[in-house]
Amino acid sequence: MHDTRPRARRWRTRLVLWTLAPALLLGGGLPLRAAADDAIPPATMTEAENIYRSRCISCHGPGGKGDGAAAAALNPKPRDMTDAAWQKSVTDAHIEQIIQDGGPAVGKSMMMPANPDLKSRPELIKALRAVVRKFGS
Ligand code: HEC
Repeated sequence: MHDTRPRARRWRTRLVLWTLAPALLLGGGLPLRAAADDAIPPATMTEAENIYRSRCISCHGPGGKGDGAAAAALNPKPRDMTDAAWQKSVTDAHIEQIIQDGGPAVGKSMMMPANPDLKSRPELIKALRAVVRKFGS
């Protein structure tokens, strides 16, 4: 009798691929991002949190809601970074660029300052981005 096993195996492979494809396409980036964040050493995260307190909190507020003491005088005001829709709408690269190069570099307010001294510390820029992302979770 004809052996049907190889064909069955082919179908199983196809089935698995079709089932996984949407997950790979849509969700593939999420585990990668989580893995990247996990790769930030705790000491670097602590350093970034201290930088947030010394350089960002005055405008962005302690919880990233845009309610820092200096925010009242700003127009446009810093947004509420706890807003899930905004978090979804921006890429990590956008957040990292505005932190490093300032608002005007991405077509935003010149009141959002650049941090040129952090250019040589890309892992610290990533950690600051992770601080921003944490406000959304
Ligand atoms: C002097 C006030 C001020 C300080 C200090 C400041 N920001 Fe901002 N930031 C702003 C303003 C104002 C905006 C909004 C710009 C706009 O919408 O045009 C902004 C925007 C942002 C955005 C992007 C939001 C978006 O809509 O894409 C991020 C991320 C951000 N700031 C992070 C930081 C971090 C991290 C620090 C500290 C290293 C920091 N900011 C320091 C005023 C400030």
